[in-house]
Amino acid sequence: MCGIVGYIGKNTAWPVLIKGLERLEYRGYDSAGIALLEGGTFSVYKKKGRVAELSKFAKSHNELSGGVGIAHTRWATHGVPSDANAHPHLSNGGDIVIVHNGIIENYLSIKKVLIGKGYKFKSDTDTEVLANLIEDIKKNGSAGRQIPIDEAVRLALAEVTGAYAILVLSKDEPGTMVVAKVGSPAVIGIGNGEFFIASDATPIVEHTKKVVYLEDGEMAVIKDGKLSLKTIKNKVRKNLYVHTLKTKIEELEKGGFPHFMLKEIFDQPESLRNTMRGRIVMDKGNVKFGGVEKFNKEFKNLEHLTIIGMGTARFSGLIGEYAFEELAGIPVKVEYGSEFTYRSVANGRHAGLIAISQSGETADTLNAIKKAKEEKLLTLGIVNVIGSSIARVVDAGIYNHVGPETAVASTKATTSQALLFVMLAIYLGRMRDLSKSDGQKILKEIQKLPEYVESILKHANLIKKLAKKYKKYKNFFFLGRKYNAGAAMEGALKLKECSYIHAEGCNAAELKHGPISLIDKDFPSLVIAPTDSMYEKNKSHIQEIKARGGKVIVLTTEGNKELKNVADDVIYIPKTLEMLTPILAFVPMQLLAYYIAVEKGNDVDKPRNLAKSVTVE
Ligand code: F6R
Repeated sequence: MCGIVGYIGKNTAWPVLIKGLERLEYRGYDSAGIALLEGGTFSVYKKKGRVAELSKFAKSHNELSGGVGIAHTRWATHGVPSDANAHPHLSNGGDIVIVHNGIIENYLSIKKVLIGKGYKFKSDTDTEVLANLIEDIKKNGSAGRQIPIDEAVRLALAEVTGAYAILVLSKDEPGTMVVAKVGSPAVIGIGNGEFFIASDATPIVEHTKKVVYLEDGEMAVIKDGKLSLKTIKNKVRKNLYVHTLKTKIEELEKGGFPHFMLKEIFDQPESLRNTMRGRIVMDKGNVKFGGVEKFNKEFKNLEHLTIIGMGTARFSGLIGEYAFEELAGIPVKVEYGSEFTYRSVANGRHAGLIAISQSGETADTLNAIKKAKEEKLLTLGIVNVIGSSIARVVDAGIYNHVGPETAVASTKATTSQALLFVMLAIYLGRMRDLSKSDGQKILKEIQKLPEYVESILKHANLIKKLAKKYKKYKNFFFLGRKYNAGAAMEGALKLKECSYIHAEGCNAAELKHGPISLIDKDFPSLVIAPTDSMYEKNKSHIQEIKARGGKVIVLTTEGNKELKNVADDVIYIPKTLEMLTPILAFVPMQLLAYYIAVEKGNDVDKPRNLAKSVTVE
């Protein structure tokens, strides 16, 4: 969480930084700040609230010149959201300024030592401690003589534990910016005599397509227009590995929609096409994933799979679980990344781990992959953000290719994740007993998904009407069976995070084992009940709710008239294969969450207390 941006070059830093913060606001938005190096001193502007407020505040205070600056948008970890806790943080002597994404775990012990030396602290943050540690080391570096800022940063980092991506400036060395990272991301854009640094490539792409990704334990020193890389242990990296960005600017804009979330919901026909593009090999009833082929032997021998992810990503994994078991006969366990890291792994030989993450930066998931690698598991990533930490750490990877997802609530990445799970299940199935014709049958249906989603989106207005009707409720159940149990959990998550309505996602069969006691006229349920193998069971669940006075919205298959008189409201999705129904069911549930949030006047793209990329454990 938190986004960092830096600029050093021949132009004015302010516009690059403020625009960059807007692009990174999805990473945290409880306060924001900018430090500019102007005429040998730092001007620091910081404010509780959104980047727009910072912009107004700073503009009313000064002319914002300066060709060097660093900026930050915060998701609070240490200390409440406030002006004082906002970054950047200055050191006591005003020589050092720093922005930081991550957590310094041993900051309290360092703070104690610094207080003993007379340092004073204005904030509750771990970051201000690091700023002062760097200043202290810089001042007293070598035989009481000042040392260069890059060396001071390096020595300071050798003393800290935790996760960080930091940008550091010293007023004594105006031509130098230091970047370092462990566990949090940092990308460096190389322009023409200028450098752009950010937590991800989105603030960089409109300035340059050439980027270098910093690896864990590395630092970049930009000095007098030159970039060099070394490790915190002081080993120089000679090869810069310059990557070329493919993201287009239009993909980062709202394209006429009032919110990113609505745009991204409506992107789904296209994003699903992009997910499957070039990957379907119809004549073989199979799929092709360039990034995994070299591990075909290992995939063929796989005897057990663990899928890990957090939030929405894990719910997509619950769909993968059924698909792998049905099409490939591989036993699957779906686990929170956060928990996998801390349990005793007894996977045995031929076990694999699939990590699923839109951002590719989720710390809980990333740590679980590291653990899996220690345990010698084959690791595969399903990731959207190209070049992200997870994409780089796994043995093999499959990209979603849905383009940037900006709204905090995941939508187009979710449908793509579920689709990739089914496609991967076909791939693993075809290595085993899945016949070519069965593979072809599923792939033909997969190819129709974009059209099916288009037809659902045509009726978005009906969901808007439902949103008006149901916005008054304080509680909601989302229920489903088999493939749609995970989809129900995702529907509930979407509603709660966007609309702040308490919602529980639950396997519909589980209802009668306890949760049903909550049902009354004020506790409606949305039941995902397509006409599939679970339909009869779902009909009973609906009756059980109705018998207790609960309202029911049913999400069922087009043409099914049977539930019209039973349910209070019905939403239709096109008929497809059972394993693909969650992909269609997601869409109306996303719309419902979106429209209720809009009705309630919530900040849809940036719901309170959240951040899109959760880079702390
Ligand atoms: C909910 C949502 C989150 C994320 C979760 C994992 O709409 O987006 O629950 O799914 O934080 O994020 P990624 O997929 O980036 O690892």
